[in-house]
Amino acid sequence: MSLLRYLVPNIHQYRRIAPRYLLLILAISAVFSTLYYAWLRSDEVLFLTDADFFWPPETPEIWAERAAQVKEAFRHAYRGYEQHAFPHDELLPVSNGSTDNFNGWGVTSVDSLDTMLLMGLEDEYARALPVISQTNFSLPSNNHVPFFETVIRYLGGLLAAYAISGDDLLRDKADELATKLASAFNTTSGFPVYAVDTYNGKNLASRSGVLAEIASFQIEYAYLGKITGKKEHVDRATLVTNLLYNATLDRFGGMYPTAWNLDTGAPSDSHLTVGALADSGHEYTLKQFLMTARTDKRNLEMYIRFTSYVINNLLFLTPERHLLYVTDAQMWKRGITSSHYFQHLACFFPGLLALGVHLLPLNHLDAFGINVTALADDFSPADRYAYAKLAEFDLADVHLWAAEGLAQTCYLTYADQPTGLGPEIVQMDVNETGAIQWIDALRTWKADRDGRSPPGVGDMKPWTSPLHENVTVEQLIPAGRRKGDPDTFGRDYLIRNTGYYLRPETVESFYILWRTTGDVKWRHRGWDVFQAIERYTKTDSGYTSVMGVHTAHPTPMNAMPSYFLAETLKYLYLLFLDEDPLPLNSWVFNTEAHALPVFAWSAQEREAYGIV
Ligand SMILES: *[C@@H]1O[C@H](CO)[C@@H](O)[C@H](O)[C@H]1NC(C)=O
Ligand SMILES: *[C@@H]1O[C@H](CO)[C@@H](O)[C@H](O)[C@H]1NC(C)=O
Ligand SMILES: *[C@@H]1O[C@H](CO)[C@@H](O)[C@H](O)[C@H]1NC(C)=O
Ligand SMILES: *[C@@H]1O[C@H](CO)[C@@H](O)[C@H](O)[C@H]1NC(C)=O
Ligand SMILES: *[C@@H]1O[C@H](CO)[C@@H](O)[C@H](O)[C@H]1NC(C)=O
Ligand SMILES: *[C@@H]1O[C@H](CO)[C@@H](O)[C@H](O)[C@H]1NC(C)=O
Ligand SMILES: *[C@@H]1O[C@H](CO)[C@@H](O)[C@H](O)[C@H]1NC(C)=O
Repeated sequence: MSLLRYLVPNIHQYRRIAPRYLLLILAISAVFSTLYYAWLRSDEVLFLTDADFFWPPETPEIWAERAAQVKEAFRHAYRGYEQHAFPHDELLPVSNGSTDNFNGWGVTSVDSLDTMLLMGLEDEYARALPVISQTNFSLPSNNHVPFFETVIRYLGGLLAAYAISGDDLLRDKADELATKLASAFNTTSGFPVYAVDTYNGKNLASRSGVLAEIASFQIEYAYLGKITGKKEHVDRATLVTNLLYNATLDRFGGMYPTAWNLDTGAPSDSHLTVGALADSGHEYTLKQFLMTARTDKRNLEMYIRFTSYVINNLLFLTPERHLLYVTDAQMWKRGITSSHYFQHLACFFPGLLALGVHLLPLNHLDAFGINVTALADDFSPADRYAYAKLAEFDLADVHLWAAEGLAQTCYLTYADQPTGLGPEIVQMDVNETGAIQWIDALRTWKADRDGRSPPGVGDMKPWTSPLHENVTVEQLIPAGRRKGDPDTFGRDYLIRNTGYYLRPETVESFYILWRTTGDVKWRHRGWDVFQAIERYTKTDSGYTSVMGVHTAHPTPMNAMPSYFLAETLKYLYLLFLDEDPLPLNSWVFNTEAHALPVFAWSAQEREAYGIV
């Protein structure tokens, strides 16, 4: 996930659905209604039980066959890239052209290296290496390299391929690239700027940065320091941890705002989100703690603070379906407002929570010297009160419920659409009395649970058009509607951007939930997503981003982002493999799905690098 995958404005002209398709929807609805409708309508919240799910019987052979299909999808995409675009950055999968949108160093091939190694695609790997060995990471003067994207795609790609293959060329190239990027850190605070000129070693001076860009390189640099023995790389990661840990966040209840001042190292806005512009900055707190063999306690503390804030303040339920979602907050002098937008980019968050539940002793943080209640001591009375509410629960339970409920909503935004592909951004409904804060609903539920699942957590069925025979197609698929427009027919959201950009976040969370809970439903849901990708995004030479996931005929956009091969197909492949080649307790994925090994600093390294 990453912020620079711009939030493209939704300029798409909505197509009508073909009458044939509408008939199909109605027929399916009729079947569903016979089977479920009366039952569903009788239950306000639409919770289902296990007995309502009829997953087809699965055998190891079926999952192996599905993994093989994902591998074939990768080969199809990479073949098209090699044929029409290599060694440029990305394939244009409709026109068979190419684009150099990420420095022109062949981003798709570097980003794909570790996926190839995992899939055993040795020929493709062997063909990619010579170009990498010749790259000098320079650009003609006056062109700038985006620091963040270059780190997560190129540096991360090289490092993960090194970790898996042990090929020294890749380590040396990673070191060379990081050296070329060094001027990014030439700021008063030590936070990196967003772009550098690798030709003359200058940075694009800027006084402001966003969280995801200034704080999503630490695991790459720490690992690079580990394998090269170079203190400068480690220092850069440590400095950013110091800055974030020292920042005064009392006003924000321990959450990291989106904009930061690169001179002072202090926050410079009051916008709080785990979506675009801030996503991986939050993600890396837990990932640094895990990668350094759970010794970096400051990052653990930051993780606990920000997740507590999110759970207390940014999680809501929709009014009718009770879909759990995470959104943003803008803090003003006189209170807080929220857009109630739910972004595809934020769908990494359930996976992160599940990873934490699996690998952290959330109910025994005192083992790490952390007293959760005391974390709020300096906060406002409202935030202290919120912490006290959270303290009524077993923290691991709450994190797991949030993970399952959010991942389910991510899934439903796919399954609700005729394509089975999820839109980039939806806006959740809020009823007249205001949004339902999840933590409050959780407390109500706890007082009288009566055998029910926690709110927003029990399994729910995808939305099927209710049998409103007189409703027009536009009303049934209410994308892009504005506030004050007619209701959402029980779907509980409007689509604000109908694009599916081949993004990984949802299947990433399915993969982690499958590995950490063993619940096979996450595999089935991932299979649904993969089939939709095959059906609606495949072209003769690759796969394409599309607009209009809510229509029967989405429009191809002629783009195949490198992260589709690095992340989306990798997570799907790992989801269907029975044996996990990258167990979550010994590998950490960077925000581009590049796997870096967990390691411990030796006593000498701690001493030499000043690691606390
Ligand atoms: C880097 O490689 C390019 C293309 O091969 C070449 O034109 C350029 O002179 C090289 N730059 C440096 C600094 O070696
Ligand atoms: C760092 O930035 C300062 C001021 O912009 C500049 O004078 C100096 O040359 C830069 N140093 C390096 C190593 O890029
Ligand atoms: C952070 O605070 C600690 C303790 O007050 C101090 O030693 C350290 O220098 C500070 N680090 C930064 C980067 O400000
Ligand atoms: C944890 O912190 C709270 C609030 O500061 C304090 O009342 C409590 O005694 C602490 N618990 C432990 C075990 O230190
Ligand atoms: C709005 O939500 C509140 C809180 O869940 C609920 O009590 C109320 O009935 C809802 N109002 C409507 C009109 O649905
Ligand atoms: C749809 O419209 C027709 C004609 O206006 C009417 O007879 C019928 O009852 C309507 N159906 C529903 C479900 O409202
Ligand atoms: C693109 O290339 C594929 C083979 O990779 C070919 O089948 C297809 O016809 C080409 N499409 C265009 C528009 O040239």
